[in-house]
Amino acid sequence: MGPRVSQRSTRFTESVIREMTRLCNAHGGVNLAQGFPDFPAHDALKREAARATLADVNQYAITWGAKRLRDAIVARQKRTTGLDYDPETEVTVCCGSTECMASTLLALVDPGDEVVVFEPFYENYGPDAVLCGATPRFVRLREPDWTFDPAELEAAFGNRTRAIVLNTPNNPTGKVFSRAELEQVAALCRRWGVTAVTDEIYEHILYDGARHVGLATLEGMRERTVTISGASKTYAVTGWRVGWCLASPALTAAIRKVHDFLTVGAPAPLQEAVAVGLDLPDEYYLRLAEDYRERREFLVPALERAGFRTFRPRGAYYVMTDISGFGFPDDVRFARALVAEGGVAAVPGSSFYSDPAAGRQRLRFHFARRRETLEEAVERLARFRPRRPA
Ligand SMILES: Cc1ncc(COP(=O)(O)O)c(C=O)c1O
Repeated sequence: MGPRVSQRSTRFTESVIREMTRLCNAHGGVNLAQGFPDFPAHDALKREAARATLADVNQYAITWGAKRLRDAIVARQKRTTGLDYDPETEVTVCCGSTECMASTLLALVDPGDEVVVFEPFYENYGPDAVLCGATPRFVRLREPDWTFDPAELEAAFGNRTRAIVLNTPNNPTGKVFSRAELEQVAALCRRWGVTAVTDEIYEHILYDGARHVGLATLEGMRERTVTISGASKTYAVTGWRVGWCLASPALTAAIRKVHDFLTVGAPAPLQEAVAVGLDLPDEYYLRLAEDYRERREFLVPALERAGFRTFRPRGAYYVMTDISGFGFPDDVRFARALVAEGGVAAVPGSSFYSDPAAGRQRLRFHFARRRETLEEAVERLARFRPRRPA
C-alpha cells in the first residue's frame, strides 16, 4: 500500500494545462496551451528588480506587502476605478492572484458552504473551493456570446451560498461582463449577503471598445467584494508571483492571516519592481491592449482557415474554438493529435467544465506569443491534417 494522502487531494485532478505543456515540450511543439507570454517584460521593471536585489531588498517584506507596492496599487486603483482603498488596512499582496484566490476563499468559506462559479471556468476555482471543503455551484455561460440565464444564476444562490467567483475579462471565453450583467450579480449578492470575489487579472487586455467594469464599483458592492488582480499578465511577469487583493478591513484582516500562514509573503525585490510597473504611463496600457489586438487579428482568422470555428474574444488573450468540423469524438484526443502530429499545443475544452461533456468539441488557444511564434503556429495549423481515430 502506498503512503496515505488526504481525501481532499483526491477530489481534483492534476492541471490539464500543465500536462499539455509537458506533451508540447516532448513533441517540440508551439505552446498555445499554457497562457504565459514569450516576449520580454518592460525594461523599467527588470532594472528595478535587479536594483532591489543588489540593494539587498532580499529579506521578507511586510507579510501583507511592501508599503511602496501597496501605495502604488491603491493609486492605480483610484486612477482606473475612482475607488479609494486604504493601503494600511485594505490591501494584501500575495504570491500571484492564484494565492489571492486561495487565501481569500480559505478566509471566507467554511466546509458545507457553497460557492457560485461561472463555467467554463479558469481551472483553479473548483479545486480552491474543494480545499475549503465547500461545494461549487456552477452557472453556465452560453455560446456564442457567453451570456448567462438570469434565472439559472438566481437559482444558484441560497442560504448556503457564501461567495461567488467572477472572472472578467474572462479566461477561457474572452467574455467581458457588461455592467447590466454585473448589476444582476450584485443584486443577488446584496439579497443573500454573499461576498463576490473577482479575478480581474486581465483588466487591461480589452478589444473592440470593451470596457472593464469592476464589480466593486457598483452600488453597495465595495464592502462585499474582494477584488483580485496582479502583475503576471499586465507586465508579462508570470514567474514573479505578485498579485493583490483589495477588500474591506474586516475581510482583509482574515485574508492576511491565511496568507501569512500559507506563504508569509511575495518576493520582496519583485514587489519593488511591480511598483514601478504600476506607475507606468497610460501609453503602456494602450500599447499592451493594441499588441494583443494585433495578435488576436492574426491568430483568429488563421484558426478559421484551418477548420476551427472561433468565438471571438473581447478581452484577455484566449480564443475558445469549436472542433466539430474535424470529426473527432472528443477534445482530449484531438488535443493530443494536434500536439503530436501538428506540433501545436492547446487545451481541451472539457477541462473548463464541471460536466466534461459540455467541452468535448471545444479547444482553447492562447495568443500571448511573439509574432514569429504565432506565425510558426499558424503554418503548422495550416498543414495539420488529423488522422481521425478509428
Ligand atoms: C483567470 C486567471 N486568474 C489567475 C491566473 C493566474 O494568475 P497569477 O499568475 O497572478 O497567479 C490566470 C493565469 O492564467 C488566469 O487566467
